Amino acid sequence: MIILGFESSCDETGVALVCTQRGLLAHALHSQIAMHQDYGGVVPELASRDHIRRVLPLTRQVLDQAGLNFNDLDAVAYTAGPGLAGALLVGASVAQSFAWSRGLPAIPIHHLEGHLLSPLLAEPRPDFPFVALLVSGGHTQIMRVDGVGAYTLLGETLDDAAGEAFDKSAKLLGLGYPGGPALSRLAAQGSAKAIELPRPMLHSGDLDFSFSGLKTAVLTRLRALEKVPGGLTQQHRADLAAATQAAIVDVLAAKSIRALKETGLKNLVVAGGVGANSLLREKLVQAVQRLRGTVYFPPLDLCTDNGAMIAFAAAMRVNAGLVNLRDTSHAFTVRPRWDLDSVCEPFSS
Ligand code: KG4
Ligand code: ZN
Repeated sequence: MIILGFESSCDETGVALVCTQRGLLAHALHSQIAMHQDYGGVVPELASRDHIRRVLPLTRQVLDQAGLNFNDLDAVAYTAGPGLAGALLVGASVAQSFAWSRGLPAIPIHHLEGHLLSPLLAEPRPDFPFVALLVSGGHTQIMRVDGVGAYTLLGETLDDAAGEAFDKSAKLLGLGYPGGPALSRLAAQGSAKAIELPRPMLHSGDLDFSFSGLKTAVLTRLRALEKVPGGLTQQHRADLAAATQAAIVDVLAAKSIRALKETGLKNLVVAGGVGANSLLREKLVQAVQRLRGTVYFPPLDLCTDNGAMIAFAAAMRVNAGLVNLRDTSHAFTVRPRWDLDSVCEPFSS
């Protein structure tokens, strides 16, 4: 079965083709980063308009890449939430229109389920059950994953997400949007040991996170450095970037290890944009190896938002019998706020 999938929840338009037997056939992506950069963050209205401009050319591109046409499609999948309402509506309405015009089922997908299952797009694939660290711009969660659609939340952030902590600290340091990759590049020229920053909730005894205090600490250090004789230097900024990255990574790694110990599981899966961070990857690989476990990441280009993970999650749900393929009603809604736990129930026919 061949599924065409759309991702449009934020600032990336992603389209992909996945076969339920053969896996990923083609994917194409347009990032709106350059467009939003002048504003220092995502402008929702501009995001929606750009998704509309990009979605059909990208669809044509993936069909050409795979050597397929519309007659070869068996289902259409789209991100139904969480995300920006207007942006989600672009992908949802295009997907539903395609599906309706060809009498195909349309499959709404939870964006985080897409991230969560994306490490299964790489080889070797992790076996269920595993612990998943989901670290994106809007979410920081630790889940226990027993199978497709069987997700139990073990811990989450009480305020800012890890990606948000990267982005907000980067902004304070005068770096562009998105902040994560920019902060990480600046950190490479600095020393994390030069400046001490707190590790929020490191010893809280649970699997929850809090990152909003870190941003305040970065601001306090920055103001103090501006007052030293000679003022804030490029080296200070690099040291502060390195210290910020180290603080975020230390907490994410410590909680992931705690989750493995508490559940007794050996496999850790990391997903979401922050999963592209090389220090996080390095730390987790070392720490999980010490537990004789294995850590799995999505392919680097599929860490941030993309259509492949949405079409793939739909294929996994179809294979697990969690999709009612006879439903061709095409009534649809998007869910800008949506808990991942609530996608667990299988459909009842
Ligand atoms: O998963 P994603 O593409 O979008 C959401 O669903 O939110 O994640 C985007 C987040 C942003 O906060 C971005 O700064 C962060 O992932 N990010 C990184 C890196 N690449 C992306 N953070 C740290 N290091 C990176 N290399
Ligand atoms: Zn995402």
